[in-house]
Amino acid sequence: MIHVAVLGYGTVGSGVVEVIETNKDMVNKKSGDELNVKYILDLRDFPGDPYEAKVVHDFNVIVNDPEVKIICETMGGVGAAYAFTKQALEAGKSVCTSNKELVAAHGPELLKLAKANNCNYLFEASVGGGIPIIRPLNYSLTAERIEAITGILNGTTNYILSKMENEGADFDSVLKKAQDKGYAERNPEADVEGHDACRKIAILSSLMLGKNVDSEKIYTEGITKITANDFTFAKKLGMSIKLLAMSKEVDENKAMAMVSPCLISADHPLKMVNGVFNAVFVRGNMLGDSMYYGKGAGKLPTASAVVSDVIDCARHLGKVIMCFWDAEEAQLVSIDETSRKFFVRLKNAGEDKAKELFGDIKPVRVEWIEDEFAFITPKLKEKDFAEKYACLSDYALGRIRVEE
Ligand code: HSE
Repeated sequence: MIHVAVLGYGTVGSGVVEVIETNKDMVNKKSGDELNVKYILDLRDFPGDPYEAKVVHDFNVIVNDPEVKIICETMGGVGAAYAFTKQALEAGKSVCTSNKELVAAHGPELLKLAKANNCNYLFEASVGGGIPIIRPLNYSLTAERIEAITGILNGTTNYILSKMENEGADFDSVLKKAQDKGYAERNPEADVEGHDACRKIAILSSLMLGKNVDSEKIYTEGITKITANDFTFAKKLGMSIKLLAMSKEVDENKAMAMVSPCLISADHPLKMVNGVFNAVFVRGNMLGDSMYYGKGAGKLPTASAVVSDVIDCARHLGKVIMCFWDAEEAQLVSIDETSRKFFVRLKNAGEDKAKELFGDIKPVRVEWIEDEFAFITPKLKEKDFAEKYACLSDYALGRIRVEE
């Protein structure tokens, strides 16, 4: 029997217990031994819960129990979760987590600690919820040089953008409805400002490069400035707007990483990813393109990914699963030096000035929006575009990057 502890009996933690129980025959078979949830750590008591008797309030009970071999950290945050993870790994207990904040902030240190103590730190659930993406990058695509990763990595913002697109509604009203239905947090900042997607692309970029990508150095722009008119003009151009998290190899030692709303064309593989779904599009130098799609959040999808890590740990007790993510900092190029096209919306009076600055643009107009037009610029360096766009400040209504 392999004894497991769960830290945090919230949405994901209770999901972990549920997945182990519901699929116990298969989970045990695939683990090569019976898994037993011995402890659940939480500040609260759960009277009447079938696992009530397993609830403890002191982490020392878990870390000092030699029978516990695997710990699921589903607490979140970088306070107690960080301290408990370090103590668990130092005690030779493997840790499986859904905590992207902790993985993005301390991944290499915790991986090193796990290796030194002959155990594992696994984090499949930290990116894309239930979508297998960490294991494909670590195992299946190891023969590849990964050239680019482009993802829709946040379900809340994808839900909001999909609703705006389908209903012609503005950001604020869709956000409010999403909050009322419980699809968006009461404090939605981490999602709508792109910070959640930023942490996730930092993790994927680190695995892509084998070096640490600091999430705080990734250019991050959220969706709060996207308007109903942006979608109307985008539609007219046959395009959609998605919050993309992307990372591209620039040369052997450098990469570009960014989170930003982007216009994508109707035939882009990420165009069909709608609502709360996530997807990760990976370009390898031998395989070419592959895409990973599914539920990026939610109790059981996320818990399923945590339990897949528990099974991996059970199969590798006493052995270290290799993960290429060094503490050495990866070099990121400034996005000012990267080039792309831009979608711009202007008041009609700005048309001549736009032509003077951007050359032969093709203005797009919509019958029922009389006082403005939109166009797509030629491919330009970010800093050159920013200079030109600043000259249009009297007419500017918005700009969005275009991802080809
Ligand atoms: N808030 C996140 C999302 C949850 O909306 O995708 C999963 O990390």
